[in-house]
This record gives sequence, C-alpha cells and structure tokens, in this order.
Amino acid sequence: MKELKIQPIKDGTVIDHITPGKALTVLKILGTTGEEGDSVISVAINVSGKSGKKDIVKIENRELDPKEVDKIALVAPNATINIIRNYEVAEKHRVSVPDEIIGIVECSNPNCISNTNEPVETKFIVKSRHPLRIRCYYCEREPEDIPSHIR
Ligand code: CTP
Ligand code: ZN
Repeated sequence: MKELKIQPIKDGTVIDHITPGKALTVLKILGTTGEEGDSVISVAINVSGKSGKKDIVKIENRELDPKEVDKIALVAPNATINIIRNYEVAEKHRVSVPDEIIGIVECSNPNCISNTNEPVETKFIVKSRHPLRIRCYYCEREPEDIPSHIR
C-alpha cells in the first residue's frame, strides 16, 4: 500500500503525531475555521504512523507562535511541530506541557478570583501528564474537559 496520504508541502508547518481524533481541536486552537484567511490547510485523521494511529495538520506558508504551540500541547501532548522550508524539515520541536499553565485555560469556577474583575491571570498547576490533570492555583478546581476551557 502506498504510504503517502497527503502531499508534502513546500513551506509552512506540519503538526505531526497529534493524538488521534484531536486534529479538529488543533484547528480550532489555530483559529482556522475556514472562514478567514487563504492559507492552504490539509488534515489527516487516524492515519497509521510508526507507533499507531495519529492525526496530522499541515499549514502552508505559516509558522506558529509560541502561545499556539502551548495550547496544542494541552490537547496533543505527543505532537511534533515541523517547520518546513523549501520542502525540507528545517526545524522539529516536540510540544511540552509546562509545570504551570498561565493565561491559557479559563477556570470553570465562576467564583474563582481569576474570573472576577481582579487583574489576575489564570494559573493552573499540572498534577499529572498522562492523563493530563490540572488544578487551579487559586480555587483548586480541576477542569474535566480541558480543551473546552482553552481560550
Ligand atoms: N513533511 C511534509 N512536507 C515536507 C516535509 C515533511 O508534509 N516537505 C511532513 C512529513 O510527511 C511528516 C512530517 O512532515 O509528517 C515530518 O517529516 P519528517 O521529519 O521527514 O518525518 P519523520 O522522520 O517520519 O518524522 P518523525 O521522526 O518526527 O516521525
Ligand atoms: Zn479557579
């Protein structure tokens, strides 16, 4: 069987080794709803890789900013970010979940100080990585569905 499912790209970013089924969440994080911009995006869901199934997202002519990479780490902890320049993989980075997640996830507790008018950035402490469990530094609430609280 022929391996190539989607074409190589000339310039841009390949997000590889995305947890199977999470590609659309990654697209949501990137704000690529299909309504804005004209960058070409290819998505592969549930393709077989060297170590089982995975999703892949390829974005042409665009590199990601560090905040986007941090968000992707929360939904696809094994993803790699491959920067492609002139068809070559110029850089390859593994995403990583930091020990503290600051300003990325909203607390689900409406009474949390991070949800009031106080100028307090959200902050979560990572309790475990596999599976990912995080706890609000301020009110100790643990969000159950982390992707839905990424802002
Ligand atoms: N890729 C691409 N276009 C290119 C070059 C690479 O779409 N011009 C894609 C590959 O298909 C792969 C990813 O970018 O999904 C990383 O490429 P490469 O490092 O060559 O693949 P692997 O060695 O298999 O990567 P890894 O070891 O990280 O699995
Ligand atoms: Zn809280």
